[in-house]
Amino acid sequence: MSTVPRAAAERAAWLRAEIERHNHAYYVLDAPTIPDAEWDALFRELQDLEAQHPALATADSPTQRVGGVPRSDLAEVRHAVLMLSLNNALTEDEALAFDHRVAEMLAKAGRGEGPVEYACELKFDGLAINLRYEDGLLVQAATRGDGSVGEDVTANVRTIHSVPLRLHDAAPPVLEARGEVLMFKRDLARLNERQRARGDKEFANPRNAAAGALRQLDARITAQRRLHFFAYGLGELRGAAEPATHSATLDWLAALGLPVCAERTVARGSDGLLAFYRAVQRKRERLDYDIDGVVYKVDARAEQVALGFVSRAPRWACAHKFPPQEATTQVLDIEVQVGRTGALTPVARLAPVAVGGVTVTNATLHNEDEVRRKDVRIGDTVIVRRAGDVIPEIVAVVPERRPPDAREFAMPSRCPVCDSAVERPADEAIARCTGGLVCGAQRKQALLHFASRRALDIEGLGEKLVEQVVEGDWVHGPAELFSLSLETLAGLERMGEKSAANLLHALDKARSTTLERFIYALGIRHVGESTARDLVHHFGSLAALQAADEAALLAVPDVGPVVAASIAHFFAEPHNREAIEQLRAAGVQWPEGEGAARPAAGRLAGKTFVLTGTLPTLTREQASELILAAGGKVSGSVSKKTDYVLAGDEAGSKLEKAQALGVAVIDEAQFRKLLEG
Ligand code: IVH
Repeated sequence: MSTVPRAAAERAAWLRAEIERHNHAYYVLDAPTIPDAEWDALFRELQDLEAQHPALATADSPTQRVGGVPRSDLAEVRHAVLMLSLNNALTEDEALAFDHRVAEMLAKAGRGEGPVEYACELKFDGLAINLRYEDGLLVQAATRGDGSVGEDVTANVRTIHSVPLRLHDAAPPVLEARGEVLMFKRDLARLNERQRARGDKEFANPRNAAAGALRQLDARITAQRRLHFFAYGLGELRGAAEPATHSATLDWLAALGLPVCAERTVARGSDGLLAFYRAVQRKRERLDYDIDGVVYKVDARAEQVALGFVSRAPRWACAHKFPPQEATTQVLDIEVQVGRTGALTPVARLAPVAVGGVTVTNATLHNEDEVRRKDVRIGDTVIVRRAGDVIPEIVAVVPERRPPDAREFAMPSRCPVCDSAVERPADEAIARCTGGLVCGAQRKQALLHFASRRALDIEGLGEKLVEQVVEGDWVHGPAELFSLSLETLAGLERMGEKSAANLLHALDKARSTTLERFIYALGIRHVGESTARDLVHHFGSLAALQAADEAALLAVPDVGPVVAASIAHFFAEPHNREAIEQLRAAGVQWPEGEGAARPAAGRLAGKTFVLTGTLPTLTREQASELILAAGGKVSGSVSKKTDYVLAGDEAGSKLEKAQALGVAVIDEAQFRKLLEG
């Protein structure tokens, strides 16, 4: 160490500690503390320092490993082949330098003339995962973790529809496919909408959302979050030869039935790389999912082998990242918006600023606590971030630029739209207007929800129109939509006779719906599509649902106390019952009784199992498969709704909990009897 200047050694130590701190927050806690670009900068500075002074590159430096440690509550999985990461290029020059380095090294290794060929792919913004198939069957899925040990998320990954549980014919004895689990933009938007409605924290980006969903102990939650998967490489492979090029490997994976993204190509030399980069950049917004760059991989396997690895990443690959979607601007004001359920959301009005090619003029602040936590004041200079279709958000305030007259935000005590009182229950983050449908803002949002595609699907009833019919006092509740006349509609702004007639036709069509859609359309707090479906399956008719008290509602699978209370409260309100009657009177109808409880699909239909301990002959996987195949459900935790706890040797706290709750505990033999009937 004597040759290393003290300042450099101190800086390296500080960087290491700082990076580890952010890594922990990011990988272990799923709660990133700094923007990726800043993390990259810290990491690079450390890499550079260590390159200048090799004595600084200690074994415990974050540059020497891939990042993160597995959480203790999911089983650990040791990867058969290390899961590595990629070096980044942040500018086109750096991408050119990558190609240059590769060409030079390959030339030294005796390669002939001509540009290097690269497999070019997207850099998905999700979570790396290893899928292990034995004799074509999915036996295990694990997260990357620290690269050598990850977490077992098999049960969760099974819920991803695009992941094949069995590969197509001719699968080798062992094949590990590696790729990215991600959440589509629209699913993230929907999830965040739900989080917001419940007053829960929103996910800052699709990667956090995917990680949150994948690392659930309860796979049912994962299933609700609709994840996707794209394969981009191989892990362990036995009993088959690896194809000669990476692009052929991807074709092979696709032929085996794995999802491989179609946005890929083979490019020649640096011109080819940059052409791919620019083409992807242009179509980025139109993709269903977020990407944060592209990835270049030397295509020929033999050339990859010649290039090899440096500590944490292959020399033959490089991630060319897009410029960060962040910018600095000023908060001109903080206003309050009123949502469908009356939730008041502070929204920062910003001095217009271009972020990732789009002009941003406002950013959500979610709720009052969030404003305090980030300490955003009117007049502040802030960093805003836009990630795909997610609403722009304020990442942080730049404290040095706070003007002396910066003003703090205060939640109003009366609704800015209808002047009703604002309430905020002590245990909730969300302040709400108490005006209900008296409040124009809530009425508008309720109508938009009612008309939305997944609800009554009234084509053509958009925001502008709803605004006009509410402000013009034409419509006070959803039923009145159906009595709008051709003359009224044709007289509205931007409405011709033709579109008015179209809308009337759409309204007419919407009258015939399903009970599921109708219940969802009512906009009951906490009742999304999936709950609406469960309610229909359970009760079969609206009358039965309306008559149910909280106890009866709690008997519906997946309905907890908060949801039950919300439903009971909704139907107890006379004006809600009246609104339903009015809708029926307006001709809204559905085939009653159709969704009534489904006939039992298997011997275990409707039964929920929790597994614990080691069974004498069945693995956990096999037991779960048997339960699912017989129509049952498998849950990760014991509750009053659990029907059976299937316990083996060394069963732990789940067994105790089952005994405490009086849930039936069975062993493997009893389980087999249940299965056989
Ligand atoms: S290949 C040995 N290809 O980026 C190379 N990774 O920093 C291993 N990623 O952990 C990775 N898209 O989560 C590869 N097309 C792609 C990718 C990709 C996204 C992620 C992956 C990995 C990280 C590497």
